[in-house]
Amino acid sequence: MPKENEFRCVVTGGCGFIGSNFVGLFLSEYPQAKVLNIDRMTYAAHPQTAQMLSLLAPDRYQHLRADIADPQLEEILARFKPHALVNFAAETHVDKSILDPSAFVQTNVAGVQNLLSLTRKLGDVRFVQVSTDEVYGSLNPDDPTFTENSPLTPSSPYAAAKASGDLFALAAHHTFGQDVVITRCTNNFGPYQYPEKLIPLVIANALEEKCIPIYGDGQQVRDWLHVSDHCRAISLVLSEGTAGEVYNVSASEEHANLNLVRGILKRVGKPESLIQYVKDRPGHDRRYGLSADKIRHTLGWKPLLNFEDGLNQTVDWYLENTHWWQSLRDDNYAAYYAANYAPKAQEQETQL
Ligand code: DAU
Repeated sequence: MPKENEFRCVVTGGCGFIGSNFVGLFLSEYPQAKVLNIDRMTYAAHPQTAQMLSLLAPDRYQHLRADIADPQLEEILARFKPHALVNFAAETHVDKSILDPSAFVQTNVAGVQNLLSLTRKLGDVRFVQVSTDEVYGSLNPDDPTFTENSPLTPSSPYAAAKASGDLFALAAHHTFGQDVVITRCTNNFGPYQYPEKLIPLVIANALEEKCIPIYGDGQQVRDWLHVSDHCRAISLVLSEGTAGEVYNVSASEEHANLNLVRGILKRVGKPESLIQYVKDRPGHDRRYGLSADKIRHTLGWKPLLNFEDGLNQTVDWYLENTHWWQSLRDDNYAAYYAANYAPKAQEQETQL
């Protein structure tokens, strides 16, 4: 789609972390594009994020509060006549999926299936399924990184639901010839990330001088990618990706959790004594590492922001936007932490 043409794109989950960053990028990359953001506004979508988006390009952007699993979206989609749909809507937090997987099946499987069948009815609509490296499961320290051909061996209920959504998307391509592409990314970080995820949680807790829970020994490894580089990759796959293909997205920045946490504490000038070792996450994946050779070589993508600069920018954003994350934590996090980790933290402390 030439960038000067009117490009109508449905973005689902556009008030969440990655979705909101994508909407901002897409509206600026495509000056004539129109975006319909379908977001149910779950706990992970901040009203201030929704408001920020509505001010970016008011004549080219609308937000509909609706569930992606709702079959009644058919009429709305038919009226909007999208050229593409990019699906960010998902339940994303592994710990929550361990407490209760049901919402994960509803959104990450039934929701994807509903969007696939509704867009199929419309005809020529490109469907981008935004997925995750967690569908590949866990690596040992010396294993080579995952490629798009690695088998799907998800460990957590979250990852199992995402893998299932991906398989429905690929099946829609194989069975019905639907124009589907899938991106699978590593752990994202950057502005507007809900402070349940490791990096914003550590920044926020450190700034408030609250303890920082480290699951198990803290030697688990995650492969980190700044959200802006991820969104550029999604935009490229949207315009240039080949139907039926999967594209991994990674900056090959593998870091052990404990080192990462120590680095953040140093950046914000807080002591390591805030670190509290707590009981490990059940079924905790030891290491993620992803090869992005395919998207680099076939589409010419590469990350632009190095890890250190991205992390510094992220810390600065949370320092400058305390009102954004504090309002979320007041309601949710304190109760969540108290219910799930505080007692176990004490148990663990006595064991260590
Ligand atoms: O790999 C991509 C995935 O990254 C996404 O698909 C998921 O939606 C996203 O949640 C993320 O999954 P993780 O489980 O890796 O992210 P999380 O931020 O929850 O945890 C990162 C690592 O830090 C993991 O090894 C668990 C650990 N951790 C996490 C939290 C929240 C702690 O040690 N303490 C914590 O309090």
